Amino acid sequence: MDSHNPCAIPQLETAALSVGARKLAVDALAIFRDRFSAQPEWISLAPGRVNLIGEHTDYNDGFVLPFAIDRQTAVVAAINRDRADSVWKCYSSHTAEFATLELTPAPIANEGWSRYLRGVCAGFLQLGCVIPPVDLVVHSNLPIGAGLSSSASLEIAVALLVQKLVSSKRSLPELARLCQLAEHNFAGVPCGIMDQLCVACAQPDHFLQIDCRTQTIQHLPCQTSDLTLLLVNSGVRHELANGEYARRREECRAAAASLGVTSLRDLALETLLARQHELPEVVVRRARHVVNENRRVLSTAAAVATQDWLAVGRHMFASHDSLRDDYEVSCPELDWLVEYARGLAANGGVVGSRMTGGGFGGSTINLVRRERLAEVQEKILLAYAEQTGVEALAFEVFPAAGGTLLAVTKK
Ligand code: GLA
Repeated sequence: MDSHNPCAIPQLETAALSVGARKLAVDALAIFRDRFSAQPEWISLAPGRVNLIGEHTDYNDGFVLPFAIDRQTAVVAAINRDRADSVWKCYSSHTAEFATLELTPAPIANEGWSRYLRGVCAGFLQLGCVIPPVDLVVHSNLPIGAGLSSSASLEIAVALLVQKLVSSKRSLPELARLCQLAEHNFAGVPCGIMDQLCVACAQPDHFLQIDCRTQTIQHLPCQTSDLTLLLVNSGVRHELANGEYARRREECRAAAASLGVTSLRDLALETLLARQHELPEVVVRRARHVVNENRRVLSTAAAVATQDWLAVGRHMFASHDSLRDDYEVSCPELDWLVEYARGLAANGGVVGSRMTGGGFGGSTINLVRRERLAEVQEKILLAYAEQTGVEALAFEVFPAAGGTLLAVTKK
C-alpha cells in the first residue's frame, strides 16, 4: 500500500482535506487499486457526527445541536465498463470481505454493511435514475457502534457518489432524506433526520442548530478558545435496531396523541404537568425528557452564541441526567463516565459531560479546559479501565466539514 507515498496525494483535489482525511483517502485509494487492479475515478468522504445536545428530539419535530467530526468513511469507486448490468462489486476494509450487489428498489432482509449501499441506491432507483455498474471500496477511520453515526456517514458518502454517477442535482438536505429512508427501510432503524443532515451539511468550526420540523439549519460558530471537546468511547457497542429505539418513538407518538398535539415539540411543560395523570407514568417521563431537552437545546444555542460555556456545561450534565432517568437510554458505563467527569468538574478540569447519540452504549462528549486536556483524558481512561476492565478510546473532536466528493485524476 502506498499510504505514505506523498506522490499519491496530488492525484486528488485535496485542497480542503484535513491531514487525517488525506491519509484515509490515500489508504482507501491504495486498497481500491490492490483489490480491483483498476484506476479509481471518484472518492467521497463523509464524516461521523457528535451531538452536543438535543437527544431523541429529532423524531419529535424538535431541536438538535450536532457537529461533524474529523473522522470519515471513504468510498472509492470506478465504473466497471466491462459489465452491461447494474451490479456493484464492493469491498469493505472493515470486514475484509467482498459483496456483490444486484441493485433493486426493494429491501432484501438480513444483510450486513452492504444494506446501506443498497438502501441508498434504491432511493435513486425509485427516482428513476439508472445506476451504472461500479467497483467500490469502503474504508473508514470511524469507530463502529460508538454512537458516532458510522451508518449515516457511509450512506451520505454513497449518496454523493451515486448523485455524481447519475448526474442528479438533489440538494444536500434531499440526499439526507433519501439516506434516512435507506436507514428506515434497509437497516430497520426508524431514525430521525439529525445524523444524515449533519453529516451532509456540516461546516468546519460550526455546530448545526437544526429545527427538525422545518429541517432548517443555522450554522453556529464554535469559538472555544480555552476549551475543547473530548470524546470518550465506552467500548459498549450501541445497537439501535434492537427495538428500544423504536419503542421510544412509539411512546412519544402515543404521548403526543393522548395530549392532542401533533408532536411533542408542541407540548408545553405546564400542559404536561397539568395532564400527567392521564398518561402512564413511563410515558410522562419520556415526554418530560423531550420537552425539557428541546428547551435545553435552545438555551445551549444561546449560550454558545455568547460563549457562556459554563451554562453549556450545565445543560450537558442536565441532559445526561434526563436521558438516564426519564428517557432510560443510558447504560451503567456511560453513567459512570459522566459521574467521573462530574467529579473532575469540581476541580475545574471538566465543564460538561453527557452521553451522545442514540444511547444503550456508545460514547460521552466532554467539554474540557484545553490546558487540562491531557490530564483529564489520562485520568478518565485509567479510572475507567480500573472500574470496568475495558480500555476506552478517547480523542479530541472539533466541528469539521460535511461530506465531499472528489475526482481522482489519472497518474
Ligand atoms: C440516533 C438516530 C438519530 C437520533 C439519535 C438520538 O443517532 O439516528 O436520528 O434520534 O439517535 O438523538
